[in-house]
Formats: sequence, structure tokens, C-alpha cells
Amino acid sequence: MEKKFRRTMVTAALPYANGPVHIGHLAGVYVPADIYVRYLRLKGEDVVFVGGSDEHGVPITIKAKKEGVTPQDIVDRYHKIIKESFEGLGISFDVYSRTTSKIHAKTASDFFKKLYDKGEFVEKTTMQYYDEEAHQFLADRYIVGTCPHCGNTRAYGDQCEACGTSLNATDLIDPKSAITGNVPVLRETKHWYLPLDKWEPRLRQWILEEHKEWRPNVYGQCKSWLDLGLQPRAVSRDLDWGVPVPVEGAEGKVLYVWFDAPIGYISNTKELLPDDWEKYWKDKDSRIVHFIGKDNIVFHCIIFPAMLMAEGSYQLPDNVPANEFLNLEGDKISTSRNWAVWLNEYLEDLPGKQDVLRYVLTANAPETRDNDFTWKDFQARNNNELVAILGNFVNRTLVLTHKYFDGIVPACGELTDYDRASLNEFADVKATLEKYLDTFRFRDAQKEAMNLARIGNKYLADTEPWKLAKTDMARVATILNLSLQITANLAIAFEPFLPFMSKKLRTILGMHEFSWNALGSVDILSAGATIGQPELLFEKIGDEVVEAQVKKLVDMKRANALANFEPKPVAAPVAFDEFMKMDIRVGTVLECEKVKKADKLLKFRIDDGMGGRTIVSGIAKFYNPEDLVGKQVCFVANFEPRKLKGIESQGMILSAENADGSLVVIGPQGPVVPGCQVG
Ligand code: MF3
Ligand code: ZN
Repeated sequence: MEKKFRRTMVTAALPYANGPVHIGHLAGVYVPADIYVRYLRLKGEDVVFVGGSDEHGVPITIKAKKEGVTPQDIVDRYHKIIKESFEGLGISFDVYSRTTSKIHAKTASDFFKKLYDKGEFVEKTTMQYYDEEAHQFLADRYIVGTCPHCGNTRAYGDQCEACGTSLNATDLIDPKSAITGNVPVLRETKHWYLPLDKWEPRLRQWILEEHKEWRPNVYGQCKSWLDLGLQPRAVSRDLDWGVPVPVEGAEGKVLYVWFDAPIGYISNTKELLPDDWEKYWKDKDSRIVHFIGKDNIVFHCIIFPAMLMAEGSYQLPDNVPANEFLNLEGDKISTSRNWAVWLNEYLEDLPGKQDVLRYVLTANAPETRDNDFTWKDFQARNNNELVAILGNFVNRTLVLTHKYFDGIVPACGELTDYDRASLNEFADVKATLEKYLDTFRFRDAQKEAMNLARIGNKYLADTEPWKLAKTDMARVATILNLSLQITANLAIAFEPFLPFMSKKLRTILGMHEFSWNALGSVDILSAGATIGQPELLFEKIGDEVVEAQVKKLVDMKRANALANFEPKPVAAPVAFDEFMKMDIRVGTVLECEKVKKADKLLKFRIDDGMGGRTIVSGIAKFYNPEDLVGKQVCFVANFEPRKLKGIESQGMILSAENADGSLVVIGPQGPVVPGCQVG
């Protein structure tokens, strides 16, 4: 970091208050932001960390309608859950407020008014879908119709979730209002647009020339937006949930959620520092850093800065360290499919393990590419790193100090060459950590902190003080003094990453005051000081714990798939003669076994009333072979024989594909003589 800055404003994306936060949000935004802020605070810098809930926007109104409650009810519920769970994980916001606050409505409204009065908007009238029964314009999400690309009949006005294509509402075939089911009509409506094209040259200069140091993913995304050419963006919507547009003739219109939400950073700073907020946002020697996920880049690097340029009195962000996405057990995290680990549930299910989650999310931080969270890796990192390296070293040091010196820090005697070499290994820990933290490389920084514990562990293992206790207590004193100094270093180095562990350790070590500047020193604890009783910092996590979490995920996903099933469109008609060409029969399963080296296949011997046949079927994931023996099944008897894993399959067993993708075998409802026909 260049030295010209006197204070730092750190923001973390305001999460939508229409659900709890999950590990993807944490890994991408909140944990790195918190590490960074704790680091700056430890260095004694002037820093303010601002967060809050994003409580406007169409999805919140849709959720409210679905549940038959008001949007305010929805945001009240989730704001509380989100705020409490952030506190639970030690995300140390200086203020965590919300965009339904009074001060925010005024701040956002005034901001709009200022731009309006300066003539920074262009007004445009366009045609939008309107529901004549509900008396309202329909947001894109409120229009459902058939996707022109894939024929999905449940596509939304902005996107088809079946094929992923982004759409305009007017592209939909047979559009219907999601509120009344009526066919909407097109009506004129007026909106205010921010002419991004006007700011394009300044944005180009500011990002592409002056911020080449931004992460490649951020810089690259900005460059491609800029190279495509910027268009005016509407900053108002026809909606009754949001900050009202503060000009005449704008009844029934609110600020677009992406206009008001980033202003929320400013409103929340005002709430925290009513007299002092401005200097954090406006002084030249203040520095603004936005932590966000990659889907927010354009809003924070192009649209919000253009708003700030148009306003004229604000600083632009100095850096926007956006992360890529975190996957979960190899699959994209999805709120709608219920594939997520929710922070509030984690804190309930695994109490006291906040630092474990923080550690694992930082170790797998999606800083340069998408990354994966698995419960197995969570367990392994806890057991093999937090317990076996960090916890083990600290515990051995504390226990030995109590055993040989009654919990008093022994004096350090003369150092051996080996001591000096060991100390040398972490002499530059402060500089290395700073290098990584200043450039937002939190994974590398945490690795470096863990390396300190590795050095300590090796030092104890090599010097074996427990063997010297009978012969050379002076040497034992030196070894334990140095080990305690390393332990004190760990308490400092890990504070940004594992604040709960650090606090516990500092209490044990009696480090009432501590500073980042002490890092690397072996003079942190004075000889003669008293050390508290050792406590385990981390404990092993057993298989049953992580298996229960995986089961919970799989069950949630399955329940969700069954509840939200939509039948596929019916296929093209088939003539009777065509259908009758298929010879379907009933058979009884005589034998059934797994096919070796094929985890999907089962091999059946079927009594078909004609001497028997062998059929191979891809249902091994859904049945135990022995459970099928004796059951009756339907099979296509004139299916052309095929070889599967070297076995000739003489037919095909019929099964239904359930909503969650599992297969259920089809058979007659009553006993049927093998070989009888189905039709
Ligand atoms: N709610 C948005 C999201 O979750 C983020 C808003 S960030 C802000 O994607 F800058 F607009 F506040
Ligand atoms: Zn589609």
C-alpha cells in the first residue's frame, strides 16, 4: 500500500435480505473483508468497516407474495438472521444497517435529486408490460412465458432458467402476468437513465490506465464491458417497494435497487459517524475498498463510480478485490435448489467452530478461480492442520511450561546455532504477511501464518525438551521461552484469520496489549510472567459429524427437487401402429447382481416365460440387487441386443425417472404370468 492514505473505508457487498447468507457469500466477500479490516486495525490504522442488508428489489416482493406477507416482513426476518449470524462468525462490522432505514431513504433520495437537478439523467419513454387487473407494470420477473430458445413454458421476462439464456420480456412467447395469470398489455412508461456512455472515457482512463494493479479477473471484466461500449442505464422502476423517485410525475416509481444499494454504504457510514462520515468518502487522503463477488463487478467498477462521478464530490474506490465463486461438493451453490451451507445453521450445528469455518473458507478462497468446499476437506483441514499443527504446538508448549516451570515464563539463556536457525526461519514473517495482506492474497497469508506453527512444531520435535528435563533445565528453559514466544507470535499473526482462537490464546498468555509490530519478535512475553491453564484450541472432528452434514445437504436437495418438479413438455404424437411395434412383457427377476467395474449397472436374469434372458440395466445406484430378486418387472422384449461391459443385454427394463433424477423400476400391480404382454 502506498503511504499517501490516512484512512480506509472498507465495504462488503450488502447481502439481499431474502435469505440467510451461505458459505459462498462468506468465502467470496465477508471473510476476506473481515481479515483485511482486522489486519488494518491491528496495525493501528484508521479504518471503518461498513455493511448492511440490501432490502429492496423485485425478488423480495415475489417472495413476500408467495408467502402472503409484506416485503417488510421478509426483510425484517432475514435482516435479523443475517446480522446475528455475521456477529456469530466474528465478522466485525463497525456498522451493520439496512436499506429500509430512514437515513438511507433520505441519502438515496437526495443523491438522485442532486443528479436530477444537475441534469445528469436522460428521460426516456418506453413500452412495458402492464397488468390491467393488478393495475401495475410488471417487472421482468413478474412475466412468465415460453422461452423462444428451448420451449420451456416457465421462462421469466429476464431469463430462462432451463437453458440459461437471458431474455427481454418482449421475447417471450405467450407472456402471462405472474400475479393474475392475465395476458399483459404494452403501455408507455417514463424512466430516468444514467448515460454511462458520457462517463466512458473517464472510466476507461481511471480503470484501464490508472488501476492496472486490480486483480486480473476484475480488470478483465471491466475491460470487456468498456470495449463493448456503455449504454444509458435505467435507474428507476415501476414498483411499489423501494425508495420513491423524488421528482414530480414519478408516482408509483422507485429507485432501481442497484441505484440505491451502493448508496447504502454511504448511508450506513452516516449512521455510524453522523459528524465524521464525509471525510471517509470525500477526502483525497481516504481510500475506499469494496469487497464483492464477481457477479457484482460491473455495478461497483462501472455503474456506481459513474454515479459518483456524476455527483461530483466523492472519491472513487481504490480497489475492488472481487472473488470468483465457491462451489459446494462439486456443484454450484444454489439458493433455489437448496444447495448451500447456511451460516445460521452452521453456527447451530457446529457450535464453537467459527474459526474452523473461517480457516477452511480462507484456505479454499476463490481468489483467482472458482473453488470447491467439501465436508471431507473441512474435516481434513481441521484435523490435520488446526489440531495437528497449530493446536498441537500450542498445547505442548503450554503443558510443558506448566510441568517444568509451574506456568511461569522461564528466562531465555544462551541460544544455540539451531535456535538461531529456527528463529531465522520466521524473522521475516511480518514482512511476508504484509506483502500478501496488502495485495488481498489472503490464502497465501493464512498459509504463512500456519507456517509459523509448523516451524514451532518442528523446533519442539527436534529439541525434545522433555528428554533434557533431567539433565539440563537451563536448556529446557530456553527452549520453552522460545516456544512461548512463537506461541505469542501465533496469537498475533492469526488474529485476522482466527479471532476466537487468538483471543483465547491471548487470555492464556496474558497478552492484554498486543500489536502487529511485535510480529517476528522473540521478546513478546517477559520472563517471570504467569501463563494460564492450557485449554484445547481445536478438537478433532469425527466422520459422523461430516457425514451428517453431507446427508443434510443431499436430503435438502432431494426434497427441493420433489417439491418443485415441473413435467417436461409431451413429445410429438406417435401413431398406434408405431406404438404396437414395441413388444413390452412382464418378467420375474430370478437373479440380480452388480456388474464388476461399472458402478451404475446391474445384471438381471429374468424369467420371461420363454426360457429366460439376461438384461443389463443402469439402476445400480438406486437399488440393492438382492431386494429385486422375486419382483416382477416390465421390459422391452424386442429391444436390439447390446453389449454392456462385455455382457449381452437382451432387452430393456422399464423405469420411471423421479423428480430428483432417481430411477424407479416399473412392474405390474398384481401377479402376472411371465411372458405376458403389456399394451
Ligand atoms: N445485494 C447484492 C447481491 O447480493 C449486492 C449489493 S452490493 C451494493 O448481489 F453495493 F449494492 F450494496
Ligand atoms: Zn430456454
